[in-house]
Amino acid sequence: MKRITKKDKAGHPFEIAKATASDVPVIMDMYRDFSPRPGSQGLPPEDPEACLSWVEELIRIGENILAWRNGKVIGHAALVPDLAKKTGEFVIFVHQDSRNLGIGTELARTSLENAKKLGLESVWLTVAVTNFVAIRLYVKLGFEYCDLDECERTMIMKL
Ligand SMILES: CC(C)(COP(=O)(O)OP(=O)(O)OC[C@H]1O[C@@H](n2cnc3c(N)ncnc32)[C@H](O)[C@@H]1OP(=O)(O)O)[C@@H](O)C(=O)NCCC(=O)NCCS
Repeated sequence: MKRITKKDKAGHPFEIAKATASDVPVIMDMYRDFSPRPGSQGLPPEDPEACLSWVEELIRIGENILAWRNGKVIGHAALVPDLAKKTGEFVIFVHQDSRNLGIGTELARTSLENAKKLGLESVWLTVAVTNFVAIRLYVKLGFEYCDLDECERTMIMKL
């Protein structure tokens, strides 16, 4: 996937590109400064070493997409595919200085397009019931609730 230039809701450009192992240090630069941390379901991990292991593992087992601005990573989406079951788990994080500008929407759309190209039939995720911004984003993209407990919802999207 080539680096694609998009415009955020304020009209400012940012880029979307697939992540590789060489991007781990710049991804970590974003997570070191990420707030809240941990935010959602214990992610990103607060402990720097645990956070590095988590990012490295996502790069190893997942399809990772980054949003970039001025040479810095400002957003990260990861899809962890289960090719046998034709499904994948999705996570997304946008730096607090770049939220509500449509960057999460573009990252998620690109990840979902990749999921289709991989031959997946669905993508699922879990989200805290109080994470209204994330839920708004997921519903807008077409995710539907499939499970609900007191503090967490599972959502799924058929591709
Ligand atoms: C969830 C997250 C990735 C969204 O990224 P983002 O770049 O801010 O997302 P977008 O700007 O593309 O979309 C946010 C949407 O929420 C809406 N929104 C903003 N504040 C809201 C609120 N309080 N209640 C409901 N919706 C809200 C925005 O209007 C926008 O919807 P729209 O495009 O239809 O107008 C980002 O907030 C984040 O990283 N949060 C912390 C980590 C996290 O919770 N990740 C999700 C794990 S499940």
